[in-house]
Amino acid sequence: MAWGWQWDAEAVIATYHILPSHLAVGAFWITYFMERKAYQENDMDMLEFLKKYSLLVLIFCFVTGSLTGAGIWYAATIISPRVISGLIHNYVWGWATEWVFFLIEIVTIYTYYYTFKKISPKAHMRIGLIYAISAWLSMVIITGILGFMLTPGKWSQTGGFFDGFFNPSYWPQLFVRTAFMFVVGGTYAAIVASFIKNPHVKEKAMKVAAKWGMGGLVIGGLFTIWYFFKIPGQSRAIIFNDLTFTQTMFKIAIVSGVLLFVYFVIWCLKRSRTAIPIIAIIAMLILFVGICAGETIREMARRPYLIPNYMLSNQMIDHDMKAKGIKSEVAKFDREGVLKNYYFAPNSVKKIDQTNYMAAGRILTKLECISCHTVARDGFFSIPKLMVKFGATSPEDICDFLDSLGVYDYMPPFVGTETEKRTMAAYIASLVNPDMKADPAWVLGSK
Ligand code: HEC
Repeated sequence: MAWGWQWDAEAVIATYHILPSHLAVGAFWITYFMERKAYQENDMDMLEFLKKYSLLVLIFCFVTGSLTGAGIWYAATIISPRVISGLIHNYVWGWATEWVFFLIEIVTIYTYYYTFKKISPKAHMRIGLIYAISAWLSMVIITGILGFMLTPGKWSQTGGFFDGFFNPSYWPQLFVRTAFMFVVGGTYAAIVASFIKNPHVKEKAMKVAAKWGMGGLVIGGLFTIWYFFKIPGQSRAIIFNDLTFTQTMFKIAIVSGVLLFVYFVIWCLKRSRTAIPIIAIIAMLILFVGICAGETIREMARRPYLIPNYMLSNQMIDHDMKAKGIKSEVAKFDREGVLKNYYFAPNSVKKIDQTNYMAAGRILTKLECISCHTVARDGFFSIPKLMVKFGATSPEDICDFLDSLGVYDYMPPFVGTETEKRTMAAYIASLVNPDMKADPAWVLGSK
């Protein structure tokens, strides 16, 4: 696979996780208002629909949502152990608080489902509301940590929990997610409604789903604009100027949103009685594509960092942080060498010589480039392919390219000594052309 299985797995798991996680948060606001209306109008058929809907939410969110939630931790820890460690050191109490709300969610959703029509309507609706509020509060917390990874704000100086939590992109992102959770909830409700036989319930449920979905799309769209104003100028440049890839993703996200809106208008509002499941499922797929595109953009926006002004994408710390007594590693690595100092470098390459310089180059390339590229000859972001396209194929030209890495908005500068840079150039040249052998004397710096 193009990025190596861990990256693909992480991207697929994380994107998929958005569906159950946002549904878990959005669904019960819709359910709460529908249930209240059903009791007001004494509409028992509608209650039947709600019971089915909440069971399907329960199964979908609490089986696939929990599995992928744990999966994200697993995959992310393999890919970026140091950033996960950094996040845990700062936000372990944030996650602990989030998990308290998860617990409340789990207890209330089961209670809600199994007490349908068995307790007073008022008490039942209250359980639904407790679920809706605690699910949303779990989003309130996780958004702080997600936003921190793009705009850590004052945290970079103070290291304070709330300085990073209530960061510059916190509020817009919270509102964007809150609005889009209604879109996920509405789209899912329309799928469940499309299976209903009773035309009266079907029509009513479809219309409610459409209204929440459309409202979420419009409001979410507006908050997204605010969000783009709040992220750093460099991130906007990466998204809208530097990379055609993110521009394409942006277009895909817009087109998915428009298609979904048209679906809500035509299939859920106008033709609600004749709506069929297959169309509703296709709408969910369109939503999924839109989410993939949106989340890809958000991820690309924090390049070349994992935590801006702190840790680069290659997991090296590139800023001093007095408040926490942390010193930039990059400065030291440039002086003394990465391989000699880096925790993850094997002992066999701690000292570079005639026998191991290609191995050293391979390990350096993996340390510094593999978080975004592959060393395979083909596929997305293949280093040898990009080098050929760029026109650098000899070790010397590749070395010059590595010198200029820092001018790209989205790539970290090369980190390491001159000799290390040459070992990397020698290794990458051998990927471009296996017959290309660098001169060991040039690599080891004696020429
Ligand atoms: C933080 C992510 C990231 C890291 C780390 C990174 N790159 Fe890139 N690199 C990118 C992106 C994104 C592109 C743009 C790809 C495109 O245009 O299709 C790119 C483009 C390139 C290109 C093509 C440049 C051009 O102008 O056409 C080369 C060559 C390249 N990278 C090599 C490397 C090497 C070697 C390393 C390690 C020293 C590295 N990159 C590290 C993200 C990264």
